[in-house]
Amino acid sequence: MKIAVLPGDGIGPEITAEAVKVLRALDLKLEIEQAPVGGAAYDISGHPLPEATLKLAQSADAILFGAVGNWKYDQLDRALRPEQAILGLRKHLGLFANLRPALCYAELQEASRLKPEAIAGLDILIVRELTGGIYFGQPRGRRSSPDGAFKGADEAYDTMRYARPEIERIARVAFEAARKRHKKVTSVDKANVLETSQFWRDVVIAVHQDYADIELQHMYVDNAAMQLVREPKAFDVVVTGNLFGDVLSDEASMLTGSIGMLPSASLNDKKQGLYEPIHGSAPDIAGKGVANPLATILSAAMLLRHSLDQAEAADRIEGAVKAVLKQGLRTPDIASDGTTRVGTAEMGDAVRRALA
Ligand code: IPM
Ligand code: MG
Repeated sequence: MKIAVLPGDGIGPEITAEAVKVLRALDLKLEIEQAPVGGAAYDISGHPLPEATLKLAQSADAILFGAVGNWKYDQLDRALRPEQAILGLRKHLGLFANLRPALCYAELQEASRLKPEAIAGLDILIVRELTGGIYFGQPRGRRSSPDGAFKGADEAYDTMRYARPEIERIARVAFEAARKRHKKVTSVDKANVLETSQFWRDVVIAVHQDYADIELQHMYVDNAAMQLVREPKAFDVVVTGNLFGDVLSDEASMLTGSIGMLPSASLNDKKQGLYEPIHGSAPDIAGKGVANPLATILSAAMLLRHSLDQAEAADRIEGAVKAVLKQGLRTPDIASDGTTRVGTAEMGDAVRRALA
């Protein structure tokens, strides 16, 4: 069982170090190898996703990823910016299925901006298509506008496109996931305006034929953004395209109290996966030892569950996270009155000790 650890930038190294500590504390035979990625890799080798890092990632059963990005790289050509590392890994490894669970721990209800009764027991799974849509669609670029009211003016354009098999496979992931949960899928699109969205809806309806036991609902993305804060507990599994999923998953994270709590899995059709917290590199707090490592530790649990078939070990980690929250330990992002403030390493150590 080989795990590639790619810490990346900002708080990436601090939080992945804690997750690796937790993984090593389990009695599993894990081969763990580390490589630079993002801005950290650019600084060393001139590229955010060096050949050696990509090779390591491809050869591993699973990748534990920290975070990439820093404002100091904003002036670089797009192809050299840190974000290209994560987009490149997703594309090269075919990681089309992004699972982003938004779970509200009872102990953290107070940390959410929403009323406790609105979020108590919240358990949503966002299934985001990750290798298609407007993120990767060609053509894209800048040019002189060829027609229309602004003919001759500078313009930029991207392309939103989805092929039937691309929608079919992500819809299946969502329906299968719903079978193990509350048997409800909400497909989010903008079918009242976009051709790709109407097609998305048509294909999801066709795939649903194989899942008569699952309730399927469709929702426009603007309405979904509203319903997520109005009545979040009405959702079970949400399936959506790359761009809408990016936006809605950040929104969903705030329901749970802190973006510092949310893990994610990005899987291909061989169960190989990349696991990362959904938050970014937070350069403003990097190196201060205050970042919340729990999203990364929970990502390590997802890694064990989805790519290494170690459900029991995954349960142990998730149980340990609940236990430290119950003990009242909190990094600053989730702290409230009456709780004990701890730093990144203290939190990681506490989880390690709480592994039953
Ligand atoms: C995410 C991030 C990435 C995305 C960025 C870093 C490219 O926001 O994983 O949600 O937009 O997908
Ligand atoms: Mg995002």
